[in-house]
Amino acid sequence: MVGTDQHLVLVGMMGVGKSTVGRIVAERLRRPLLDSDQMIEERTGQTVREIFEADGEPAFRAVETEVLCEALDSSTPAVIAAAGGVVLAEANRRALTGANAKVVWLSADPSVLVERVLSGGHRPLLDDDPEGTLRRMFTTREPLYREVADLIVSVDGRSVNDVVEAVLR
Ligand code: S3P
Repeated sequence: MVGTDQHLVLVGMMGVGKSTVGRIVAERLRRPLLDSDQMIEERTGQTVREIFEADGEPAFRAVETEVLCEALDSSTPAVIAAAGGVVLAEANRRALTGANAKVVWLSADPSVLVERVLSGGHRPLLDDDPEGTLRRMFTTREPLYREVADLIVSVDGRSVNDVVEAVLR
């Protein structure tokens, strides 16, 4: 169970349901939801896609680290929906494991994710060959999610409500 003074952080691949699950869990715990992509868009006044296109992925990752650290530093215990790529930077992984936070990895088989990621415009990395890209990302990132996770919740074959209950338990 997450401590009353601890953040609850959701990590996992694009399309796994971090934002949806995060919104419901935040409502249930009566906590603010901090969504890293949304924080980035508010901070920069640009969409995720615009940042990738205008400034490139490294610039996006730099702002991502800033907002993640800011979210983890916030004094009000929150639910933090961290975007799929936050585990790539070692500094972020250190921040996640060092913070007063419970990190939940929402895991899914890549074939389940492929159907889900085709909606929404904030995933420029998947513009070409979404399935192959997701599979490659999964291979690279799986050990990184595992490294930061306090708890692993599989979403395969589960409804959103089941996943929410599993996270809350
Ligand atoms: C990314 C995930 C996206 C978004 C960007 C890059 C990634 O967020 O930050 O397209 O590298 O996994 P979601 O995980 O919310 O889709």
